[in-house]
Amino acid sequence: MTSFPRCDATAAWAALSGHFEAHGRDLDLREAFARDPARFERFGVEAPDMFCDLSKNRIDAATLHFLADLARECGVEAWRDAMLAGEAINTTEGRAVLHTALRAPPGEAPFSDEVHATREAMLAFAEAVRARAEGGARPLRHVVNIGIGGSDLGPQMAVAALAPFAHPQLELHFVSNVDGHDIASVLRRIAPAETLFIVASKTFTTQETMANAATAKAWFLEGGGGEVAEHFVAATTNVEAAARFGITRTFGFRDWVGGRYSLWSAIGLPIAIAVGAAGFRELLAGARAMDEHFAAAPIEKNLPMLLGLVDVWYRNFHGFTSRSVAPYHHGLKRLPAYLQQLEMESNGKRVDREGRVLPFATSAVVWGEPGTNGQHAYFQMLHQGTDTIPVEFILVKKADANAGEGRAVCESLARQQGMLLANGLAQSQALMLGQKSAEPHRDFPGNRPSTTFVLDRLTPRSLGALIALYEHRVFTAGAVWGIDSFDQWGVELGKVLGARLLPLLDGADIEAAGLDGSTAGLLRRVRG
Ligand code: F6P
Repeated sequence: MTSFPRCDATAAWAALSGHFEAHGRDLDLREAFARDPARFERFGVEAPDMFCDLSKNRIDAATLHFLADLARECGVEAWRDAMLAGEAINTTEGRAVLHTALRAPPGEAPFSDEVHATREAMLAFAEAVRARAEGGARPLRHVVNIGIGGSDLGPQMAVAALAPFAHPQLELHFVSNVDGHDIASVLRRIAPAETLFIVASKTFTTQETMANAATAKAWFLEGGGGEVAEHFVAATTNVEAAARFGITRTFGFRDWVGGRYSLWSAIGLPIAIAVGAAGFRELLAGARAMDEHFAAAPIEKNLPMLLGLVDVWYRNFHGFTSRSVAPYHHGLKRLPAYLQQLEMESNGKRVDREGRVLPFATSAVVWGEPGTNGQHAYFQMLHQGTDTIPVEFILVKKADANAGEGRAVCESLARQQGMLLANGLAQSQALMLGQKSAEPHRDFPGNRPSTTFVLDRLTPRSLGALIALYEHRVFTAGAVWGIDSFDQWGVELGKVLGARLLPLLDGADIEAAGLDGSTAGLLRRVRG
């Protein structure tokens, strides 16, 4: 890989600094729209399965020009090509980053034969599970995914998003937390003989998942559910450990699939069970369409790149510390949680690839709730708080009913869709326009930036495109910052310390452990 300058050493970075001081800091969106009647068209971007309105962002043509220069100088396109070609761009772990290979057509990406064989086996199994839900001697009613982080958030988010397309007789559950209340709340609602457990863990060593899997197995055996091998399957790279647990049916994937990028792999089994093989293929096809856009579109029209670059602009020049995601589709209620891992585990880094401490900020805090719920909680702060927080609205034109839904529900879905969309549009309008008032408490400053995505429908295909868009956006910002977006060393220390503290909770000598005063004091408090 050719070496590229880090962003803060580029000419474009210096140009952006000057541009920010001269025009960027004080750009007023209301004046920008008044000056340029074509602003909406100028900053609207078409991408697979979606339209994106960037016009309510604090950017102008010069900002995008300098940001595109920045991407070029930092080698974003070269890093992208290296990723797609399977080079080991995850340098701190010496791994390739090939989640895009999981959605490429046969023969078109590294490891193609293996990817397709594994996927076909996984999809055939998903169809068999769906068939067992139709009836027969041993009908299945429940599927419980046990996994955490990337082995939970992606599948959980996608299954919720695609509920209208899901098998009506199968209920999907997700257990992640090591807190036993999580699994207990699921187990009390299901019966062993009707349940399939998926133990989803890339490493098959994660404490939370191993603890929950052991609980599920003990509960299953106690309840006389039958053969463990019939009711437990695994999605993992560690087939041996799964076998030691008693699982004989394992769906594998490789270490070049990062945990938070793994819903396209065997980790997506709950999605495939919910929406079927055809639905899962559509999800992959949507992501593939976005991959192609990302790979081929010029930076100025490349939506994931533009979003990643605007993220850099806001974080490093405006100094905005967070971004709020507001999906105006209740099915996307887990999207903010999913994005928290995708963005903050990927780009929450403080050193560059060479290990040098960065003199500039990286990942913003990502947070949010589905609209309209967020409006009645924290939108007060977005409109009138002291911080400027860019907001991302995701609007979906048409609502989808579940198969077999009655007339009243279908009619209300259509009726309430108008209210939902009007709310989303009104919020972005209010953030930008504000409202002058002589009464300070009623004054809205306005000029608060937002981005709006418009999807026709939330289908497996458009969801696939949306998720891939976010993946590549995160990639773009990480490539500009010169960091390794694909490792996650920051989660390790807490795991190690937790393992040391566990015996102390079970009665070992706290005084002899040589702990800091606070941890020792708290241990005494929480120990029975
Ligand atoms: O939290 C760290 C992490 O490694 C995530 O990156 C990953 O998604 C999660 O743990 C779960 O890991 P595994 O799939 O190996 O159980």
